[in-house]
Amino acid sequence: MKNYLKPVVFLLLLWPIYIISYQIFFNELGPEPVDRIINHFGEWTLIFIILTLSISPLRKITNSTEWLKFRRMIGLFTFSYASIHMLSYVGLDYRFDFEPLIDDVLNKRFIFVGFSAWLLLTILALTSSDMMVRLLKQNWKKLHKLVYVIAIFGALHFIWLSKTILFKPLIYSLIILFLLSLRIKFKKSI
Ligand code: HEM
Repeated sequence: MKNYLKPVVFLLLLWPIYIISYQIFFNELGPEPVDRIINHFGEWTLIFIILTLSISPLRKITNSTEWLKFRRMIGLFTFSYASIHMLSYVGLDYRFDFEPLIDDVLNKRFIFVGFSAWLLLTILALTSSDMMVRLLKQNWKKLHKLVYVIAIFGALHFIWLSKTILFKPLIYSLIILFLLSLRIKFKKSI
């Protein structure tokens, strides 16, 4: 049974692709299809960051290391969805014209913080292999703590682009703050 678990989780993690494919196929993207695609993958990136942050608390609460088996897979899915989100913006909105993109990164704080989060995710994805774990030794753990910075940047990106914290950005920010506070709590109790 356990051998099937990873492929099953893999198929479940493709959920955002199933939803958007359905909406594209049945013409349900609404009047602003490009915005719909960008926002869809943006929101799912944030959900996947939250999933990644939940693995450690789940391991401690259930006293089971089984959860750790999925951490890398969830992390790489997070990076993939963030990249699709960014590429839909650059490709569908700006037709791969990088000049306005650089302009946005420099002039719009929500793009700046989103782009920074994506760059940090890229570093984590590039150093996620077993070989990099061996090469970086103790530094690997330190480096991968960047996921907390990424989560905060992701939440800020959502708040700033929404111009108001109510309601979705607030809900996501509270979940992220809760997960970060759990980490501090567990650290203190060691
Ligand atoms: C970890 C990285 C990122 C996360 C977690 C993230 C998350 C989000 C979320 C939650 C939304 C709003 C979704 C909604 O309204 O339902 C969004 C929208 C958006 N994001 Fe990101 N994002 C990230 C990176 C980026 C990057 C790198 C770019 C571009 C360089 C970008 C550009 C945008 C744009 C243009 C929107 C739509 C804004 C609008 O509706 O006017 N994001 N993102």
